[in-house]
Amino acid sequence: MPTEPVPQEDVAIPAEPESGTGPTRRTVIATGTAVGTAVVAGTVLGTGLLPGSGTAAAASAPSSRLTVTVNGARHTVTVDNRTSLLDLLREHLDLTGTKKGCDAGACGACTVLVDGRRQNACLTLAVRLEGAEVTTIEGLADGDRLHPLQQAFIDEDAFQCGYCTPGQIVSGVGCIEEGHTHSPEEIREWMSGNICRCGCYVKIVRAVEQAAGRK
Ligand code: FES
Ligand code: FES
Repeated sequence: MPTEPVPQEDVAIPAEPESGTGPTRRTVIATGTAVGTAVVAGTVLGTGLLPGSGTAAAASAPSSRLTVTVNGARHTVTVDNRTSLLDLLREHLDLTGTKKGCDAGACGACTVLVDGRRQNACLTLAVRLEGAEVTTIEGLADGDRLHPLQQAFIDEDAFQCGYCTPGQIVSGVGCIEEGHTHSPEEIREWMSGNICRCGCYVKIVRAVEQAAGRK
């Protein structure tokens, strides 16, 4: 719904002071314009609000060192404590198969296995994973031999754009290992956290059924 315009008389603008020391409408507007210009310039140039402020914030951000095993390989990294597992995988380890969709736990595109359990990597802080074993889409195939569910996705033509597919496959692997594949309805229920905007759900369920050995 469009926002009602605020009547001019309702806008709180400081009154002109009687004599010279306080802020005037002109100085308020001038200050606001200067700050606004700095924000726009910082955004366009990627330099932060004020010169040096972004650098100072990044330098003072607490970081931690952790060792995590991803697809069988041990990695020791130092990361900003706010780093998500998704960003650790994509930005630090160059494992870009895991996709960033919503970055808010709503789409499932970032699904990985942590110690064998399905997890949204975008909602998982990397620093909590000391000693954990993570499996991503890159870790499912055995050399040139695809994981049975990867093959089933090809056989069933279970994707269109493919953006959700890594998350769907990893989630499907978890779903099969959890034993939630006794019926198409059960598969749909336990895969419901993985959204496919291309609407490939029927074929995705068939692929999970196929890999679970139900065909
Ligand atoms: Fe993690 Fe959407 S990117 S749930
Ligand atoms: Fe396009 Fe699922 S194949 S979003």
